[in-house]
Amino acid sequence: MPAQPRRILFVCLGNICRSPLAEGIFRSVAATAGTANRFAVDSAGTGAWHAGNPPDPRSIQVAARHGVDISAQRARAVGAADFEKFDLLLGMDRSNVDTLIGRAPADAAKKVHLFLEYAGIGHRDVPDPYYGGEDGFETVYRMLHEASEALAAKLGARDASAPISGQASSIT
Ligand code: 4NP
Repeated sequence: MPAQPRRILFVCLGNICRSPLAEGIFRSVAATAGTANRFAVDSAGTGAWHAGNPPDPRSIQVAARHGVDISAQRARAVGAADFEKFDLLLGMDRSNVDTLIGRAPADAAKKVHLFLEYAGIGHRDVPDPYYGGEDGFETVYRMLHEASEALAAKLGARDASAPISGQASSIT
């Protein structure tokens, strides 16, 4: 039997700029690495202002320029069930991490980490690009791509006996 997929929730503030990109990029990186079936990924925001909305058009565009389609994703807020459902909740910045830890049941706080740090590429925030220009989205894309490759390598290597084909599933 293959191992259960590792369930990862990417989290930012609004779930329209950074975490939808992280979700789409990580899924694409895992598919390219042939490890998609080892992961089930989703994204959510600590805030609910944009619930039901597609990603910010600038996130959709930067992803599309790099061959990743995130246009069908819809924003949602983090809920209490997410702390049970997911193995890892990865915040884009330290404020997201603090908010998640503040809401996590005591036994689930250990599942919450800063994305880039957990990926092993430094104790750094993914900056919020919402109020900036297009450049900010390209910078965010590159950070998320580097972190996704590092995370997929770190977690995907854990069970070399698992089958290596298939699509990463979504948790909805
Ligand atoms: P995100 O960016 O957290 O990367 O999705 C933001 C999107 C919207 C808002 C803030 C940040 N907002 O204040 O509406």
